[in-house]
Amino acid sequence: MSAEAQKQAAAEVAVAKVESGTVIGVGSGSTVNLFIDALAASDTRIEAAVAASEASAERLRGHGIDVVDANRVTELAVYIDGADEINRHLQMIKGGGGALTREKIVAALSKRFICIVDESKRVTALGDFPLPVEVIPMARSYVARELVKLGGRPELREGFTTDNGNIILDVRSLDLSKPLHREQELNNLAGVVTNGLFALRPADELLVGTDTGVQRFT
Ligand code: 5RP
Repeated sequence: MSAEAQKQAAAEVAVAKVESGTVIGVGSGSTVNLFIDALAASDTRIEAAVAASEASAERLRGHGIDVVDANRVTELAVYIDGADEINRHLQMIKGGGGALTREKIVAALSKRFICIVDESKRVTALGDFPLPVEVIPMARSYVARELVKLGGRPELREGFTTDNGNIILDVRSLDLSKPLHREQELNNLAGVVTNGLFALRPADELLVGTDTGVQRFT
């Protein structure tokens, strides 16, 4: 089974967990695109969605699904999103698509975070995937130097601007064995908007598409 088929299987199980009439959070990326398409093809009719990227908002609207501003909701029933890596504590690295800040905001607003992935995303230790860090452009060099002091090897994501008008530094070699501490430490650097560690707010449920079906972890 291809990674694409595994993502599709996980996306379809996630659709079954969404209740009609609710306002939900929708993340970003190729797995979420499959979720959006599967949701639109299903009998489930949500009231509206808060989207974590302009691309997801456009896809939702393309299917006739209402997209509302995050400031108009106090709580979301559920948030469906993918991940670049996820460990057994359901802590993640996210932001491969550069939507990490909005993804973190939507996750914070949500009662329940369901992560949907193909099995290549499950890891025993976070950190093979370069950690995305969203930075205000003025602070690019300062933050890069601080990341080097912490043991990282930051690289500017060339030709990329986030939906918030910022840059991304992709950081290799950082020790992520204490993700809760690392997430807070990176957030404390002046000029960092957010980083792609989702440890303070991990997923509540993980759906992994595999060749033998969708495995569920909580
Ligand atoms: C985007 C993300 C995505 O969830 C992550 O990159 C996974 O993407 P895909 O489903 O395409 O593998 O965090 O910022």
